[in-house]
Amino acid sequence: MSTTASAGEAKPVSSAPAKAAPQVQVAAPSRREFLYYIWGASMALLLGEAGAGLIWFALPRFKEGTFGGTFNLAGDTLPQAGSAPVNVPEGRFWLSNSDAGFVVLYGVCTHLGCLPKWVDVNNRFECPCHGSKYEIDGKYIEGPAPRSLDRFRTTITFTDGTSETMNRDGDPINLAGRTIASIAVDTGTRLKRNGKV
Ligand code: FES
Repeated sequence: MSTTASAGEAKPVSSAPAKAAPQVQVAAPSRREFLYYIWGASMALLLGEAGAGLIWFALPRFKEGTFGGTFNLAGDTLPQAGSAPVNVPEGRFWLSNSDAGFVVLYGVCTHLGCLPKWVDVNNRFECPCHGSKYEIDGKYIEGPAPRSLDRFRTTITFTDGTSETMNRDGDPINLAGRTIASIAVDTGTRLKRNGKV
């Protein structure tokens, strides 16, 4: 008759000697392998830096509504033709509407960077530093400034769904009696006038 170990009964301990774990021999890398690893690590670092640089360039650096980015304004922000230009200090520009059309002027003097003010009684911009003067559309009148006021690239969308973007010379946009729905001013694209025009 066979017997079975009852619960709690100690199991017999094997008396066979434990097998020794096999020893793994790791050979030191050769000089050639070492140089290969260094080269691989350098290439990975280089590619990583190039990738990070590409991403950095691709991301917009300026937020919408901050200087360097695009300002989206309502159509009724534009002054009536011939009335005083409207200052948008956070964008450092003036909205100007003259007989020649609509322009957005960078509010910094082209001489040494002071801020010209609009002077109603004289109907022109006047720089407080060295006296340069500009017409309502930023055109040079007199003084040490080397050129007319710079302009910002602007796109106007009209209520009929059409839109018009300022050309690369910064020429005024002719509104032709159309009603403006919105104005997008790109303060990241400054257009320098060709001299005193
Ligand atoms: S900075 Fe405006 S005239 Fe000199």
